[in-house]
Amino acid sequence: MISRPKGTNDLLPTESQKFVKLTNFTHKFMKKYNVEFIRTPIFESYELFHRNGELSDMVTKETYDFLDRANRKLTLRPEGTAGIVRSYVENKIFSPGHFSSYYYIGPFFRYERPQKNRYREFYQIGAELIGNKHFTQDAELISMAYNFLKGIGIEDFKLKINYLGNHEELSKFKIDLSNYLKPLKESLSKESQLRIEKNPLRILDSKSETDRKLLINAPKTLDYISQKQAKEFQQTLKILDKKHISYEIDHTLVRGIDYYSEIVFEFQTSELNSSSHNAVGGGGRYNDLVNELGGPKVSGVGFAFGVERLLNLKNSLNSLPENIDIFLTYIDDVDSLDSYIIFSNLRMKNFKVYFGYKSNTLKTEIKNALGLGSKYLLIFDSKTSGKGIVQVRNLQQHSQVELKYEELDAYLRENLEVKK
Ligand code: HAM
Repeated sequence: MISRPKGTNDLLPTESQKFVKLTNFTHKFMKKYNVEFIRTPIFESYELFHRNGELSDMVTKETYDFLDRANRKLTLRPEGTAGIVRSYVENKIFSPGHFSSYYYIGPFFRYERPQKNRYREFYQIGAELIGNKHFTQDAELISMAYNFLKGIGIEDFKLKINYLGNHEELSKFKIDLSNYLKPLKESLSKESQLRIEKNPLRILDSKSETDRKLLINAPKTLDYISQKQAKEFQQTLKILDKKHISYEIDHTLVRGIDYYSEIVFEFQTSELNSSSHNAVGGGGRYNDLVNELGGPKVSGVGFAFGVERLLNLKNSLNSLPENIDIFLTYIDDVDSLDSYIIFSNLRMKNFKVYFGYKSNTLKTEIKNALGLGSKYLLIFDSKTSGKGIVQVRNLQQHSQVELKYEELDAYLRENLEVKK
């Protein structure tokens, strides 16, 4: 037997229902926000993710890099933002004075140590707003991500926010942070010791308890930003307050990717049962990336959610609109013909119907119908179907009526408000 590669998942029908619901929800949700769908390649040039100065752990340790048959150096995309910005620049889809908004759904690859909620191939749903910068966009994007989570039924999460500043402020901050940490080096965790020189920022979000205690008096990025930046940040937070979006300022939130500047945020939940992988999503602003990749001097802000993590949350997608309205089943094989013909007719009339091809026990069929979110179960039983009568069970009200075949259409139409 050949097994699937380590860190990958098969999405089997029990879970795939939820995935389909999630993608359908995403398309509708993004339309409401006027965000357009974009798809970029799953592999990109190696250089896109390994640009000068990129020292994030993701790039140094976690990318899948390979040579193709013509010796081109390529990388399986570890995240979506760089590819979208590459596409934005390459296709010149920028319009001065405006901003463009895109969303994406797709697989990403990181060579990590696999465990629950941390995979080598995983899916993300993300969005990027690129163009003229304004603090209302930060607020718009964060509330969009927040409403997305609420929209799929997730209530139990924390929104953490921090403000990093730009390259200049961050460079000063990094020096001071290093200087603060150096005398503590011996007491820090092994991982953090390795980061002191190369990537001190990441020490801030270390999960080690000892590290966290040592960080209590560490410098804070908010003390390094300009007055203008502080004012913009406050304005963004004010909008969130007005929209009743609750958040916490977390001085240790730095995020794992190096392109961030100014605002960063993360959605965390304790439900994922893992101290280090409790983020369902996150994002922030990137002021330099577009220009660094050859585009105009415009900024971007975006977020991405981990799809597997969303699907693993117990309340996600429980109450989204049902997939089907009517489930048809039959008790005896002799009734399968009638039920199949009626199923085909209802489908042609735009009802959302499902035909249980194999007659299971009635109890199982009720369970199946409920699993698909069906409102009605039509039962064809030879005791009545010989007389052209079907049992119509309302699964929400637990009631049942008998109807003649010719009455079905009008009855269902009236109760389900199906458009012709
Ligand atoms: P990220 O925080 O690296 O951000 O990933 C976003 C989400 O993807 C995480 O919160 C997590 O839910 C999920 N995720 C990441 N790695 C894994 C993994 N190995 N297994 C399962 N799920 C995972 C980004 O990728 C940025 N591109 C987000 C962004 C968009 N920033 C600006 N625009």
